[in-house]
Amino acid sequence: MRWAWADVDLAAIAHNIDVIRRTLASDDATPAAVWAVVKADGYGHGAVAVARTAIDAGAVGLCVALTQEGVALRDAGITAPILLLSEQPAEEAAAIVAHSLTPTVYTRTGIAALDDAARGGGPRLGVHLKVDTGMHRAGAQPIDAVAAADAIAGSTSLYLAGVFTHLAVADEPSAPSNGLQLERFDEVLASLRTAGHEPSVVHAANSAAALALPAARRDLVRLGIAMYGIEPGPDVRRLCRELRPTLSLHARVSLVKTVRAGEGVSYGLRHVFEHDAVVATVPIGYADGVPRRLFDSGGEVLLHGRRVPIVGVVTMDQLMLDCGDLPVAVGDEVVLIGAQHGSAGSDAIGAEEWAARLGTIGYEIVCGISKRIDRRLRPTS
Ligand SMILES: Cc1ncc(COP(=O)(O)O)c(C=O)c1O
Repeated sequence: MRWAWADVDLAAIAHNIDVIRRTLASDDATPAAVWAVVKADGYGHGAVAVARTAIDAGAVGLCVALTQEGVALRDAGITAPILLLSEQPAEEAAAIVAHSLTPTVYTRTGIAALDDAARGGGPRLGVHLKVDTGMHRAGAQPIDAVAAADAIAGSTSLYLAGVFTHLAVADEPSAPSNGLQLERFDEVLASLRTAGHEPSVVHAANSAAALALPAARRDLVRLGIAMYGIEPGPDVRRLCRELRPTLSLHARVSLVKTVRAGEGVSYGLRHVFEHDAVVATVPIGYADGVPRRLFDSGGEVLLHGRRVPIVGVVTMDQLMLDCGDLPVAVGDEVVLIGAQHGSAGSDAIGAEEWAARLGTIGYEIVCGISKRIDRRLRPTS
């Protein structure tokens, strides 16, 4: 029972899916389905638990980045459709077929490898064709989309189950590139149709697009960060008010001492106390995902519901707090991300706050909480 852990609030995951599903249903006569994105171990929350919760809450499919991530979900007994969001190495084709994962394709090599692996008289394997409409990370170029669809249709063991794209700037809904990417996507869909290809599903939206760009919703939305209760970016904050954070990060004070005025603390002695200070040591550090530079950027934690500053650089396994005039004892709970239940204050520290301090995004914060931190699952009911 290490004195540093994360709580994962599965009820909040279910709540967030419900919020998104209600939003989709209130705006559209045929609302898009929700597919839950659980790559990177469910954005650091625990993929299996999140996947089960999401399916129970009405998600109809799951998305992962890697074959191994899909295999792990299958090994845990999850039977829902699982989409691999990008094309995987040809050597993994057999594992993709054996575990009934839904591959994404965009190269002739990828299509051929899956065609070979899926041969054997069973039903055809549905694949999704990803089209790069402007992000220039992954996908077939629009001009090559019909040829790729022809190759899928001409194979002996595959069929075109879906066509999708990904928006580069969905978190800035008014950016012109969103409209441009969707326009290019629609042109590709039209030329596929003209060539006789009619995929059963079409998709383009991540969380930000699902919330802020109704034109991107199509048949399903690939819901990641919003399901975890974290805003995709400041420009969509107003659409995230009903979402609840799902991960909180906690530790307990392991040592308390008084440090005299003029003394410094932590490596480099970069914080020097002007007055005698009560300093608490907390056994969590950068090897756990608390960035070393959180100190330089004014990082704070909650102690008895009140904010206290991190003093000195965060070390690999421990960090120090200036407790001011707060009473503090070994064993007291410190909240690094989240709210402090049972305390007087209603203050909370979000992953977004760390992200703003550190010049990054909430995604990187939660994905960065390392395997050393035990995830304690709080059930849905
Ligand atoms: C292709 C694709 N779709 C959907 C998502 C989910 O995005 P978000 O977490 O912003 O909802 C991701 C995440 O990076 C992605 O790569």
